[in-house]
Amino acid sequence: MNILVTGGAGYVGSVLIPELLKKNHSVRVLDNLMYGGRGLIPSLLNKNFELIRGDVREKSAVEGALKGIDLIIHLAAIVGYPACKKNPDLARSVNCEATFLLEKTRDKNIPILFGSTGSNYGAVTSQVCTEETPLNPISLYGETKTKAEQHLMNSGNVICYRFATAFGASNRMRLDLLINDFVYQAVRNKNMTVYEKNFKRTFIHVQDMVRSFLFAIDNYSKLKDNVYNVGSEKMNYSKEEIALIVKKKVDYYLHFAEFGSDEDKRNYEVSYRKINALGFDISISMEDGIDELIKVSSLLDIHNEYSNV
Ligand SMILES: NC(=O)c1ccc[n+]([C@@H]2O[C@H](COP(=O)([O-])OP(=O)(O)OC[C@H]3O[C@@H](n4cnc5c(N)ncnc54)[C@H](O)[C@@H]3O)[C@@H](O)[C@H]2O)c1
Repeated sequence: MNILVTGGAGYVGSVLIPELLKKNHSVRVLDNLMYGGRGLIPSLLNKNFELIRGDVREKSAVEGALKGIDLIIHLAAIVGYPACKKNPDLARSVNCEATFLLEKTRDKNIPILFGSTGSNYGAVTSQVCTEETPLNPISLYGETKTKAEQHLMNSGNVICYRFATAFGASNRMRLDLLINDFVYQAVRNKNMTVYEKNFKRTFIHVQDMVRSFLFAIDNYSKLKDNVYNVGSEKMNYSKEEIALIVKKKVDYYLHFAEFGSDEDKRNYEVSYRKINALGFDISISMEDGIDELIKVSSLLDIHNEYSNV
């Protein structure tokens, strides 16, 4: 297939593109490279790979990028609550308006796979979120992703994946993700204070996110026009549990603060039965992912500009 990946130079895209190429798809990335393009370097030798450096909010860039395309994977976004809070107008225009533009410009026969998020659930009252749980986003990130998801679902010929919080290594590394940040602090700073230790969160390794997109391509007609939580019930952990798994493997000073709070207020568990029933499950455990991150953390030359655990 000829696949367009918007935001393909990002954390997820950098892991996804080589896997799509391995499956003999032709891949075109549309990305403005706001975090650089280092993640795409391993793909540049491949003749089936093309990069368009451009803005997904610009009609002419989107029209050009869509020429000859059979399927769209839409990842371009301002991602996470700190980045959206820092630049709210940009977040609204990229996360919502660019999604509306992409949908309007595509031929309706071209499917879209959309990287949505569990942040859409926001403040939940029920114990476990299923795809039917009402969306109640508490951050601008969740709000903009919810609007984009609802717009695409109303348009049809789409699969929306509400991902758990990603973790794991990528050539465009992100340290604003909870587990990546915890391991980095343990390895590099040798100490960490954790607020709201009992808050429950749900996680997925970035390589399993990639596998879920390959699964969607292979099973498109079965999954089409639906929303899925993508992750695993085995990967629902409290912040305390994560910090203690890291502590077993890294010698660092760990403090659980009684007062103070994390700006990321998410505290929820998610059911993944819907996608599991169709045959998708994760392959990388928390332990293995943390072992990988311990090795990666000592190699990194970046820091987390939003750190506030
Ligand atoms: N990583 C996670 O935990 C996670 C979880 C759930 C959902 N998602 C979703 O997956 C997608 C990818 O996330 P990520 O972690 O790779 O984020 P990322 O920030 O690493 O990547 C986003 C990419 O979009 C590009 N981009 C931003 N604005 C653009 C614009 N105007 N025009 C063109 N390109 C633009 C950036 O340059 C970047 O390469 C996002 O839609 C995100 O909401 C991610």
